[in-house]
Amino acid sequence: MKIVLLGYMASGKSSIGKKLSKSLEMNFIDLDDYIIEKEKKSISDIFKENGEIYFRLIETKYLKEILSKDGNFILSLGGGTPCYANNMEIVNQAETKSIYLQGSVPTMVERLIRKKAKRPLIASLGDDKIPEFVAKHLFERRPYYEKAKVTIKIDDKKKSEVAEELYKLLS
Ligand code: S3P
Repeated sequence: MKIVLLGYMASGKSSIGKKLSKSLEMNFIDLDDYIIEKEKKSISDIFKENGEIYFRLIETKYLKEILSKDGNFILSLGGGTPCYANNMEIVNQAETKSIYLQGSVPTMVERLIRKKAKRPLIASLGDDKIPEFVAKHLFERRPYYEKAKVTIKIDDKKKSEVAEELYKLLS
């Protein structure tokens, strides 16, 4: 089984994916980490030095590379991965269980104000600009996220609770 976790920035894709990989005893791959390793640069440096379009191109390239691997694994995507090229078709065609970690605008705003530094799309925004940015961005991205086969709500839940819920659903 291949499990793909997707959702907005700071929805917990990586930490929940790691927890789940332990309980399900499956390998875990984080797409952003994979990109960092292959390109030998941080995501922020890729955005700064090569631009977002380059990032989106390699994001699709490495997504395809990972999904063509044999075996079982859990893959967490970047927040934008489902929304470019035909990435959700690629994800769903690879016979994956695609799972959307769905958080409301207030939840994502609250988390992102604390965690914006490593995220080039929001790092330079003042905290007062984040609510409007997230509301618009989620409005645009939600239709792509909703192509996932399963949706799990994350509001008011600890990451361990979401991981437990997923474990029960998948085992
Ligand atoms: C992005 C999300 C980031 C990373 C890049 C772009 C996005 O991943 O891929 O900064 O477009 O939402 P996280 O969702 O892990 O922050």
